[in-house]
Amino acid sequence: MTLPARVQIVEVGPRDGLQNEMAVTPVAVRTQLIELLARAGLNRIEVGSFVSEKAVPQMAGTAEVLASIRVPKGVNLSALVPNMQGFAAATAAGVGDIALFAAASESFSRKNLGCGVDESFNRFARVAAAAKDAGLAMRGYVSCALGCPYEGKVDHTRVVETAQRLLALGCYEISLADTIGVGTPVAARELIQRVAQVISVERIAVHFHDTYGQALANIFACLEHGVSVVDSSVAGLGGCPFAPGAAGNVATEDVVYMLNGCDVETGVDLGKLLDATRFICASLDRPPESKVARARLAGESLPSQRCATNSE
Ligand code: HMG
Ligand code: MG
Repeated sequence: MTLPARVQIVEVGPRDGLQNEMAVTPVAVRTQLIELLARAGLNRIEVGSFVSEKAVPQMAGTAEVLASIRVPKGVNLSALVPNMQGFAAATAAGVGDIALFAAASESFSRKNLGCGVDESFNRFARVAAAAKDAGLAMRGYVSCALGCPYEGKVDHTRVVETAQRLLALGCYEISLADTIGVGTPVAARELIQRVAQVISVERIAVHFHDTYGQALANIFACLEHGVSVVDSSVAGLGGCPFAPGAAGNVATEDVVYMLNGCDVETGVDLGKLLDATRFICASLDRPPESKVARARLAGESLPSQRCATNSE
């Protein structure tokens, strides 16, 4: 098994990370974080969501974030869009790509999107048609790809079907999400092998939450099977407000360190990435979840007490 020569990292901290903080992170902090991440070489950054402020108050202000960010050309700034109301707001805000987020579990879809899977796809179909007219590219997520907080084990067939439906709507990439971080490397590998039977592996991304500490091992297993796009979150922030107990995403620092050590190119400068870690941890007054950040920033006066998050 060989590893890819290059891996694209999709930085989801400003969205998946900050959506799960107890407090609403001010727009100015979100903006500065994104600018620091871009300066570190991250050129795909999920900046927020156009969802109901009542459902996820932490993502209110995503339009203001987009309006104030200054990043070099070539940095793609994307956001989650669940329906036409979100699409209208996202396009008015000048978003780069949009991301549709479906689930392989009916119960999770109802909790997360307020509707079942079929109804979510009715909404996505309208968004996809409008996105096509507007020339906006779409990414797709499949939540609960390795397990659901409400239904437990999720059949691979459901994951494959959901991924295919997103692809049929025009998504250029499908991110398979272990929403609650229950996967292990063999399960992750088997899922990739199964999905890659119907979707070209170049179009598969992986999105691991690190609840059980398996994320890096899972990523490695997926890279060995041809995956070359990995979602991660600075400082390991994150979780989903609708997945109780789920921890943050795998930390970007840890992914970059592992890939540097494996001679896999990412284009990310670890030193500059740690500037973003320092900044966001000081702003949130919490230590990084990233082991690499803890090792590299040891001796600096980082916040020491861990703040409670929504999912705890
Ligand atoms: P709904 O209740 O079915 O929608 O919510 P509705 O059309 O009945 O509208 C209800 C209210 O929401 C109305 O406001 C609408 O205006 C408003 P009210 O009249 O009550 O004042 N509304 C909106 N407001 C702003 N933007 C919109 C929008 N749509 C309706 N786009 C909805 C449906 C999807 C909106 C809601 O359930 C929602 O916002 N859910 C939040 C979903 C979310 O952000 N989840 C977390 C991100 S997903 C995730 O973390 C997983 C991922 O990381 C992968 C993984 O790890 O698994 C991607
Ligand atoms: Mg997530």
